[in-house]
Amino acid sequence: MIPQAFIQDLIARVDIVELIQRYIPLKKAGANYSACCPFHNEKSPSFTVSPSKQFYHCFGCGAHGTAIGFLMEYSGLGFVDAVKDLAQQMGLEVPDDGPAFSGPAREQQRSLIDVMGTAARFYREQLKLNPRAIDYLKRRGLTGDIAARFGIGFAPEGWQNLDKAFPKYDEPALAEAGLVIDNDAGRRYDRFRDRIMFPIQDAKGNVIAFGGRILDAGEPKYLNSPETPLFEKGRELYGLPQARVGIRETGTVIVVEGYMDVVALAQFGVANAVATLGTATTPTHVQKLLRQADRLVFCFDGDKAGRKAARRGLEASLPHLADDKSVCFLFLPAEHDPDSYVREHGAEAFQLAARNATPLGRFLIDSMAEGCDLATAEGRAHLVHNAKEMVPKIAAPVLRLQIVRDLAQVAQLSAEETATALGLAPPPRAAKPYSPDKFGKGSFGKKPLPPPEPRVGVVPLERQLLRVLLAQPRLGDRVPHELVAQLPATDERAAVMAIIDAGEDGSLLDAPLGAWIEHFRDSSHEAAVVRAMQSIEEGYVDESKLEVSLTDLLERLELQAIEAELKTLQGLIASGRANSDAAGRLGALLAKKQKLKSGQTA
Ligand code: GTP
Ligand code: MN
Repeated sequence: MIPQAFIQDLIARVDIVELIQRYIPLKKAGANYSACCPFHNEKSPSFTVSPSKQFYHCFGCGAHGTAIGFLMEYSGLGFVDAVKDLAQQMGLEVPDDGPAFSGPAREQQRSLIDVMGTAARFYREQLKLNPRAIDYLKRRGLTGDIAARFGIGFAPEGWQNLDKAFPKYDEPALAEAGLVIDNDAGRRYDRFRDRIMFPIQDAKGNVIAFGGRILDAGEPKYLNSPETPLFEKGRELYGLPQARVGIRETGTVIVVEGYMDVVALAQFGVANAVATLGTATTPTHVQKLLRQADRLVFCFDGDKAGRKAARRGLEASLPHLADDKSVCFLFLPAEHDPDSYVREHGAEAFQLAARNATPLGRFLIDSMAEGCDLATAEGRAHLVHNAKEMVPKIAAPVLRLQIVRDLAQVAQLSAEETATALGLAPPPRAAKPYSPDKFGKGSFGKKPLPPPEPRVGVVPLERQLLRVLLAQPRLGDRVPHELVAQLPATDERAAVMAIIDAGEDGSLLDAPLGAWIEHFRDSSHEAAVVRAMQSIEEGYVDESKLEVSLTDLLERLELQAIEAELKTLQGLIASGRANSDAAGRLGALLAKKQKLKSGQTA
């Protein structure tokens, strides 16, 4: 883990213009630099690099990022390698001990990895000694080869078998690794008993957790390791190290629900499947997978639970979509899971079904339209209402545009009306000011024209606030927490709070925008922050008037707070439940409101 401080330092020192210039020729254009975008095909340049922000952005395809992001996109490096590469170019050494993993924490991780490795070996040996377990796996159609490939083992019956695997059964690490349970009476016993053991490995192949399946009927069917310092369910995927080559060769990753599904698919030659670990798919899962594959196919059981899981996968995907990646959904017939399907119909049928899986865009619109009667105006309005929760989260700008168009058609609105209803920028405007034939040479690199005034009204306050704060994080100290707290609990609001909080320690206040982007990388605020960044780049924020905009936003927020309190008070007074101060407070609020209003129109 690389310390955040080092990354901030790196972004502050590197010159993104100089870096990108090593890969593609840049031309100066006003305060920025421009080029034809290296990430999509184009004839006139819409790729700009801002030295003051340490950020690049393409108005054509929406590609954007910091110096680190550029190396990742352009060279296909992972985050850590990109940081190392960049540091090397700068002659810096990467400290690889983050605070969270330095010293004792790192020692602990190492010793837990050893413990898990020992346990995995023990379970594998036990499988060989246990005919009942071998027989179970055979009945389920597994070969010895495939069991070995996935390191499948067996935890025998009995309460303290691990005593035989470890020199000291009372060692604290066994509990920390989740292998044993200490009961209230101070007695220790094995967590996994009489179960087939599926080891869960990290990217390096270390065993970090287990899933244990009961042999016959019984509850629970699967028992998983608890979360430990090694194992965070929402990040890890079963079968990833085994699937890596298959993923690289096909450019595709298949996400299934069960351990047995991954193993059965692999046995039939479908070597690019991984499973979430009895939890819903998370955005982190999707992000991890889309770094390694261009196409992600979610494969779910055909039942109701499968559809529900697919929706979770859908939601987790939206913030990590990119226009050069695709995400699809494969629904198996109701009686099947991938394991039974591949056994009955074979690998070829499965691959064919995967190739013909439903594209995300179609599944998205279908699921948003579920329960809406599209034959009525109300039903179509309901559809757009549902879309408001989802469509703005789509991180792939062109796909988002396409979906807005498709949605518009279903909703019987124009694309512009739909975009406005969703609180999105109206479709094509952003790219136009950059067309050289319209503005002539030399104007490239200037800000695009600001959008027409009325649009601002439909952008929610929290989104506007986020844009202003990102453009100038220092302004965060003017924003009272309680005003922000009354906003609806959106991702934008959370990101605003995070900026105010991050600003409080001071270190990032004068950092270029790129440093903030890195600060929020992989955090739950990333998508909201990137959306706001793009709006800034597309000229929806007048960067010469940030303070004025903020004052205006704060006044509107305050007005909202006053209106809300007024409403409560008036309700209390009307119902006779108001106390003696109510009239005075009401007067004060009305006066304040009057003052704010006259200030605003002046
Ligand atoms: P088989 O019955 O062995 O074929 O397993 P399956 O993978 O088909 O099981 P199922 O579709 O019921 O469950 C899919 C995944 O959900 C499993 O692989 C587990 O990760 C998880 N899961 C299923 N049952 C349980 C349970 O009882 N407890 C927990 N924690 N997870 C479960
Ligand atoms: Mn199954």
